[in-house]
Amino acid sequence: MGLFLMLGSIMTWCLVGFTPLAYGYDPLDPNGNITIKWDIMQIQDSSYNVKVSLFNYQLFRHMEPPGWRLSWTWIGDEVIWSMVGAEATLQGNCSRFRNNLPHSCEKQPVIVDLLPGAPYNMQTANCCKGGVLSSMIQDPSKYGASFLMSVGAASTFNASNTTSSDTIPANFTIELPGYTCGPPLIVPPSRFPSDGGRRWTQAIGTWNVTCIYSQFRASLSPKCCVSLSAFYNSTIVPCPICSCHCPGSEGVRCANSSSKMLPVLQLPHDVTKEARPLVSCSRHMCPIKVHWHVKQSYREYWRVKVTITNLNFAKNYSQWSLVMQHPNLRSLTQVFSFNYKPLDQHGPINDTGIFWGIQYYNDMLLQSGDEGYVQTEILLNKDAEMFTFREGWAFPRKISFNGDECVMPPPEDYPKLPNSANTTSFFKFTFWIIPCLLFLMFILWQL
Ligand SMILES: *[C@@H]1O[C@H](CO)[C@@H](O)[C@H](O)[C@H]1NC(C)=O
Ligand SMILES: *[C@@H]1O[C@H](CO)[C@@H](O)[C@H](O)[C@H]1NC(C)=O
Ligand SMILES: *[C@@H]1O[C@H](CO)[C@@H](O)[C@H](O)[C@H]1NC(C)=O
Ligand SMILES: *[C@@H]1O[C@H](CO)[C@@H](O)[C@H](O)[C@H]1NC(C)=O
Ligand SMILES: *[C@@H]1O[C@H](CO)[C@@H](O)[C@H](O)[C@H]1NC(C)=O
Ligand SMILES: *[C@@H]1O[C@H](CO)[C@@H](O)[C@H](O)[C@H]1NC(C)=O
Ligand SMILES: *[C@@H]1O[C@H](CO)[C@@H](O)[C@H](O)[C@H]1NC(C)=O
Ligand SMILES: *[C@@H]1O[C@H](CO)[C@@H](O)[C@H](O)[C@H]1NC(C)=O
Ligand SMILES: *[C@@H]1O[C@H](CO)[C@@H](O)[C@H](O)[C@H]1NC(C)=O
Ligand SMILES: *[C@@H]1O[C@H](CO)[C@@H](O)[C@H](O)[C@H]1NC(C)=O
Repeated sequence: MGLFLMLGSIMTWCLVGFTPLAYGYDPLDPNGNITIKWDIMQIQDSSYNVKVSLFNYQLFRHMEPPGWRLSWTWIGDEVIWSMVGAEATLQGNCSRFRNNLPHSCEKQPVIVDLLPGAPYNMQTANCCKGGVLSSMIQDPSKYGASFLMSVGAASTFNASNTTSSDTIPANFTIELPGYTCGPPLIVPPSRFPSDGGRRWTQAIGTWNVTCIYSQFRASLSPKCCVSLSAFYNSTIVPCPICSCHCPGSEGVRCANSSSKMLPVLQLPHDVTKEARPLVSCSRHMCPIKVHWHVKQSYREYWRVKVTITNLNFAKNYSQWSLVMQHPNLRSLTQVFSFNYKPLDQHGPINDTGIFWGIQYYNDMLLQSGDEGYVQTEILLNKDAEMFTFREGWAFPRKISFNGDECVMPPPEDYPKLPNSANTTSFFKFTFWIIPCLLFLMFILWQL
């Protein structure tokens, strides 16, 4: 058991030390996905009714405003006659109809959620959140959405064979950066309770589409960086230069203070589009900076202060989340002003947790300015077998904000304990390489 634990942590170390920043799969949330469920509820002569549901099955990644925009391509010449709980952005060319015009005749309709407070007769259960879906951990009651529509059946639709792939459109997307959706797969029909669960009805046919996030596809440049400091050293290790963009690069707009820019800073008139970032000019050019300060050492405990600063003038981050990895999180004693939940994704290794804001208090990270930050202090029990202030052990291994990994300073720059200056050259060696060599030796020995 002990050996297994040690190897496990060594493996994590190697992965943390050497994986490139961007990959398509998140080891902290390996099953994370967004599932679109397509339930055919009823078939009439020339039309059928569909219930479409979206579920955000991601532990810590949510959908912020402007939210999801669901789109697909009809196989035949289907039209959407009517819709409740959502709406198509364009009606399109309905000139082939005369008296009664459909809701949308687009070949590739784009469906958006209704805004909160939509008329009662337009609502469905779970609708009308402006496309915002919480992560599963942050608010388990708000991770789903659904809407109903009546579809004018196309020539290709065969009502006597609802398992044929001609019954469902192709090429689903949710039009959010970084997500790609797979093909629709037929699954056992959904069942719906009625009469208080004494009777169950079921869909005529059910299909699932799974969409997966990749930070690499979302954007080639990171969106946040980490700076470090400790009570035992006056050096503040800043975010690495060019963490997100290089100063003066084309990729991002920057301003020295909001006061001059604010009249110019135009929020988008179209509520379905997100404003382009306008960040505070810095050497790292990131819209988000996370600072980890080792604040105090007590006999049995130590205290860390974590500050998240919004350097983006064009955005308030609602329902933000922070995922941090540090071996001592398994002995976390107290978290002030943030919510916390451990993420037990490595089996026996319990070194990662998610932190998020308290509702109505600091769950909104305001745009860059005097109030554009949130902070917490965490109290950790000093684990006798591993705790040390030496060799940067007290600093986090990995941090991500809203599910996107942040750029860390290189380990050899971490603030050092006074009198340990000579360890510099050995630092990286002992910190990363030796555990990995041990791990490789173990693998070879196993062969
Ligand atoms: C999507 O997430 C759900 C919930 O975690 C899981 O049951 C399902 O297997 C996942 N689907 C895929 C294709 O990974
Ligand atoms: C609209 O669709 C009809 C056929 O359905 C077509 O004849 C017409 O050219 C289309 N109009 C435009 C502007 O695309
Ligand atoms: C519809 O499907 C049934 C059963 O698969 C088949 O017998 C019938 O010929 C199909 N009709 C059309 C118009 O394709
Ligand atoms: C329905 O369509 C599917 C796929 O096109 C086909 O494999 C299946 O045999 C069809 N069922 C009937 C009853 O024809
Ligand atoms: C879906 O996308 C693929 C690849 O872009 C394309 O070949 C296919 O024709 C599309 N399907 C439909 C129904 O448009
Ligand atoms: C299909 O989606 C539903 C969403 O409620 C989920 O419960 C189910 O596990 C999914 N099935 C597959 C095979 O992914
Ligand atoms: C911000 O200030 C720096 C130094 O004070 C200056 O070099 C830079 O041009 C300024 N940037 C903008 C966008 O005003
Ligand atoms: C952020 O929120 C504040 C207060 O609610 C508001 O005044 C400001 O306009 C918002 N900024 C953006 C960019 O939406
Ligand atoms: C991880 O730590 C949390 C408390 O921080 C605890 O509730 C949980 O049981 C631990 N999990 C394991 C696998 O040790
Ligand atoms: C503080 O840490 C830096 C490395 O970031 C090191 O160069 C410096 O010598 C340390 N200061 C003291 C007083 O040890």
